Amino acid sequence: MKKLLHIECSPRKERSVSRKLAEKFIETYRLKHPHAPITTLDLWKTPLPDFDEYTVNAKFKVINGQDFTAAEKERWDHIRSLFEQFSTAEKYIFSVPMWNFSIPYKLKHYIDLITQPGLAFAVTPSGYRGLIVDRPVVLLLTRGGIYRNSPLASMDMQEKYLELWLRFIGFVDIRTVYAEGMMSDHRSDSIENAMEMAIAEAARF
Ligand SMILES: Cc1cc2nc3c(=O)[nH]c(=O)nc-3n(C[C@H](O)[C@H](O)[C@H](O)COP(=O)(O)O)c2cc1C
Repeated sequence: MKKLLHIECSPRKERSVSRKLAEKFIETYRLKHPHAPITTLDLWKTPLPDFDEYTVNAKFKVINGQDFTAAEKERWDHIRSLFEQFSTAEKYIFSVPMWNFSIPYKLKHYIDLITQPGLAFAVTPSGYRGLIVDRPVVLLLTRGGIYRNSPLASMDMQEKYLELWLRFIGFVDIRTVYAEGMMSDHRSDSIENAMEMAIAEAARF
């Protein structure tokens, strides 16, 4: 049974549309995989350590093959345990609202912490290589406005950034469900559409 990890990024809990999409996705997924282990990582309830000077030093020391000081080792051990929780999953869903054309800062913080050399990517003579391979991911994205196939498309840094990051760390199979226009008259129709898309993706995940 493959382990599914849900990264939850909205603080709005029961009022959150992205979370509702994830709930619908998981409900459908469970019908097909009743015994699959499913974990939700709520980034608003997960203590994320500061990415401080010692953490930056540790990151560069890994790249340069140097030894850690005690403070750097302590930071790296924490990063390793966060990364392990992420990397031991085999399938992923991210429920993510658009915030200021991009992603909520908690998700960016998490990405900064786990995207580390020797863990999420390798540094090779020919460049960087993602180490999270052969794992599918579904993005459940919500936005107040409408960006897809619209004049606002170039302002969408939410999907672009997430895709770029996922590809950087090795993901290839990236599927996306959108609920757009959450702050418009299209809200109800858009949620209904997105729910159907979430059900369809979950049924073939
Ligand atoms: C802090 C904040 C910033 C937002 N920035 C944008 C934005 O730049 N563009 C947009 O279309 N919607 C924006 N929205 C609207 C949300 O993307 C929209 O309400 C979405 O449904 C939130 O997802 P959720 O219900 O899962 O929390 C913003 C909402 C918040 C709270």
